[in-house]
Amino acid sequence: MTDTRGGQYLALSCSIFSEYSVARGDGQRVRSCGAFARLRYGVADVMRLVRLIIWVVIGYLTRSDALYIGLGAAAVQAFHGAWENKSKMNTAKLTLNGKDYELPVVVGSEGEVGIDISNLRAQSEAVTLDPGYGNTGACKSAITFIDGDKGILRYRGYPIEQLSEHAKFPEVAYLLIYGNLPNETQLREWRKKLTDNSYIHEDMIRFFDHYPPTAHPMAILSAMVASLSTYYPDIEDEDNWNLNIVRVLAKAKTIAAFSYKKSIGQPVVYPLAKNSYVANFLRMMFATPAEPYEVPEVLERALNLLLILHADHEQNCSTSTVRMVGSGHANLYACISAGICGLWGPLHGGANQEVIDMLKAIKADGGNYKKYVELAKDKNSGFKLMGFGHRVYRNFDPRAKILKKSADDVLKELGIKDPLLDIAKNLEEVALNDSYFVERKLYPNVDFYSGIIYRAMGIPVNMFTVMFALGRIPGWIAHWKEMREEPGSRIHRPRQIYTGEKERNYIPVGKR
Ligand code: CMC
Repeated sequence: MTDTRGGQYLALSCSIFSEYSVARGDGQRVRSCGAFARLRYGVADVMRLVRLIIWVVIGYLTRSDALYIGLGAAAVQAFHGAWENKSKMNTAKLTLNGKDYELPVVVGSEGEVGIDISNLRAQSEAVTLDPGYGNTGACKSAITFIDGDKGILRYRGYPIEQLSEHAKFPEVAYLLIYGNLPNETQLREWRKKLTDNSYIHEDMIRFFDHYPPTAHPMAILSAMVASLSTYYPDIEDEDNWNLNIVRVLAKAKTIAAFSYKKSIGQPVVYPLAKNSYVANFLRMMFATPAEPYEVPEVLERALNLLLILHADHEQNCSTSTVRMVGSGHANLYACISAGICGLWGPLHGGANQEVIDMLKAIKADGGNYKKYVELAKDKNSGFKLMGFGHRVYRNFDPRAKILKKSADDVLKELGIKDPLLDIAKNLEEVALNDSYFVERKLYPNVDFYSGIIYRAMGIPVNMFTVMFALGRIPGWIAHWKEMREEPGSRIHRPRQIYTGEKERNYIPVGKR
């Protein structure tokens, strides 16, 4: 009797386990048991589970052998139903010129659904058209997850709120690049490598002498990072890859600080082994040979936060550039240099500089922020509220939320009263209550408050986008590495729909 019951319980649990993934309700995304993972289920599946439960209850109450038959039948049915559902969910149908094409469906670990069109052209001779890539998943990636509707941002599964509160930037860089948070030994070694590699070749310091004083620091950063490839060879083995990863991370901040020092005519300051990554950057920026310099804790904390918040953001103009260039197997320095250029524009990383310029202009115009909200709504004005809007976030940008609070804290701690912060807050409030912004789901993005903090820290406005780049380098590296390590990854080569002239004959110049 005991044995029979044990068998019944076992059979019961197996069946319920197999049905569990089938019965989580209509349209829910399920994360369970292997083959059934991440499918959506419907009412029929709920009914299937109800039938199973009835079988089990009857069988158990009557202690009859029918229980086993029932359980077996139900389990088979459950598997069958789940496979049916899986196959329904695993293909999409496209009808083109009266012909049907079955397209595989890919489901991500957070339930994101993608239609795999990689064989579409071979089968149908058609390509997809998606200017701006708003609907195109260019790759699978395990680095960063964003849910723009819910304002969620996670690096390797860790919520940005937790990382920004507890972690240090090098730790986050390691997490992004290698997939997990480092243990104590790994972190100690990682930090040491970052410090040991933070010097640049002395010859490179002379390069700075030949840029005009008006050179934008983004141009210098990009050129100097590409130039690193002339000193450090691109040998394709794991140790060399890892060394180049450390080099580019460690040296980019030195290049950024040296370019600032050169632009103000001061001698460069070298990093100190005892300092953290962030403290060394601040020291190289603000120390002078004439006086001892202790890095203010508030600045170190603020910069650590800013760098973490910028460290990755899945696919975007600069990161996709890094992947694009990297897909042709250009060396890491070339790819990061390309990413820096991709970031530069005012619609992307350059927006933080634009925000401050905009706030200054509003202040100079008597602080009439309402006028600028109206201007932003007028399509003929050519004016946008910089630091507002995002392709992905449609509710709020979690980074902006953290930075708004940080801006208050940092300014208070530094004893700074910045009228630009008040204008920014007023602008935000007016815009968030205005139907133009509400209907278009336009919220402050990461760049809206970051500039105010950089300004309070004494970082010059033309260095703001450089700061963004320093934060984003770990993300670029992580994407480059992920792409290069993916088996079977191919050179990126999109298609186009040609809309130009049809074939025509050459006309000699005198006859045109
Ligand atoms: N001010 C006024 N109107 C705006 C703004 C803005 N900042 N942003 C978008 N809109 C309007 C836009 O005109 C359009 O209106 P309509 O539907 O009537 O034509 C609608 O909102 C949708 O905008 P979109 O241009 O289709 O959105 P997008 O996803 O192509 O562009 C964006 C996103 C961030 C480039 C854009 O919102 C923008 O230019 N913002 C200002 C620049 C900025 O702050 N960039 C930093 C982005 S966050 C850092 C980063 O990750 O790069």
